[in-house]
Amino acid sequence: MIFLGSDHGGLELKNKVVEYLKQKGVQLTDCGTYNGESVDYPDFASVVCQKVLEENAEFGILFCGTGIGVSMAANKVNGIRAALLCNTFSAQMAREHNDANIICFGSRTTTFEQCREMLDAFMSAKFEGGRHAVRVGKIMAAQEQN
Ligand code: RB5
Repeated sequence: MIFLGSDHGGLELKNKVVEYLKQKGVQLTDCGTYNGESVDYPDFASVVCQKVLEENAEFGILFCGTGIGVSMAANKVNGIRAALLCNTFSAQMAREHNDANIICFGSRTTTFEQCREMLDAFMSAKFEGGRHAVRVGKIMAAQEQN
């Protein structure tokens, strides 16, 4: 199960990604927002992060205008490793090296085609573990102390 969420700024790209993933047969839950009314992105980041943790989901996807706000909000949640993606290499690395459980996109900075390519790169990658698991473990330990 993949959980998705956005504010009004990320709505357009989220809706396109929801359709794309449905066409691929991916099981998903769209956590909103569902219309263009102005809302606060931390509220939607919080819902998606809690769902990902509670359901032990593969990952979640967050969208806002730039992807910056949702990534900042998500990384405040204990247990979340959110990566703001900007190209296919970073998308691949976000999973192989950082084991990201949330990926973030900017609807005003990223076309659907770019987003689709990054999503495909992320979804086909696997966490490499080993030395990267040690480093990810240090991030999680630091987060728990805050
Ligand atoms: C909303 O206008 C915008 O600030 C938000 O979507 C996001 O880009 C914040 O980081």
